[in-house]
Amino acid sequence: MNMGPLFLLAIGFSDKLPAKKVIDLLDKHYQAVFADLSLTVPSKYEETIPGKPPKVIIRKEMFGSNRMARVRLLEGGHGLLNVVIGHEATRRQASDALTGWREWIYLVGNKTGPVKPELMNVSKSMGWGQILKGVPSKQYPTSEQAIDLAKIVVTKKKAVVKTEGDWFVAAKPIIFTDKQCLNCHQNAKLGGYAGVMVYKLHADPTRKAERMSKIRK
Ligand code: HEC
Repeated sequence: MNMGPLFLLAIGFSDKLPAKKVIDLLDKHYQAVFADLSLTVPSKYEETIPGKPPKVIIRKEMFGSNRMARVRLLEGGHGLLNVVIGHEATRRQASDALTGWREWIYLVGNKTGPVKPELMNVSKSMGWGQILKGVPSKQYPTSEQAIDLAKIVVTKKKAVVKTEGDWFVAAKPIIFTDKQCLNCHQNAKLGGYAGVMVYKLHADPTRKAERMSKIRK
């Protein structure tokens, strides 16, 4: 008997992926978004909202933290925020992967300046914050913890993956892989660090798969 299709079906319906896999999918999305040089110039795209005529939108150039989309709908199915054009598929995979999890995501860096342990700040932090159900507020991750992890990545020159209490934690570097990056990032070098992504996950069985209410192509 051919078990292939059955096996695929089982994967499709399993509702919760392991933390490491979820973090890999989140990182895949953000790495692709930061590596995309086409986002540094304005572009036109068509937005389709069910029930409304398609609308042509001019997208301004996007840098750094502006490229970070929230990776899911707000609870109750509100509109998608700040979807990055051209990266819908990886965004979608990442947001689906968050079923059963609550996330906290940070970008730590030094804007266009050199990334050094003593010169890093949180440029963006996104998460469920105060509404993280069942987690006492003193256990919420802080920006200082994100910066500490980013410092380890920059100092030891490798990613960090670990658990902190009930949190799964990963910090991964964003690397300058194209010499065009250096046109704008002063004092940077090819293969050097542009910033660090920090991901924190906490299990939440109440977290459902998102619904799409807005599609942009
Ligand atoms: C046309 C100019 C330009 C190019 C080319 C460019 N960047 Fe940037 N980048 C910026 C600007 C401006 C910022 C700061 C945005 C801000 O103030 O939040 C930035 C911020 C960033 C950040 C966030 C740092 C932080 O601390 O917030 C990352 C990561 C980054 N760039 C990666 C890259 C990579 C990787 C490339 C090449 C693939 C690249 N950039 C190419 C202009 C550029």
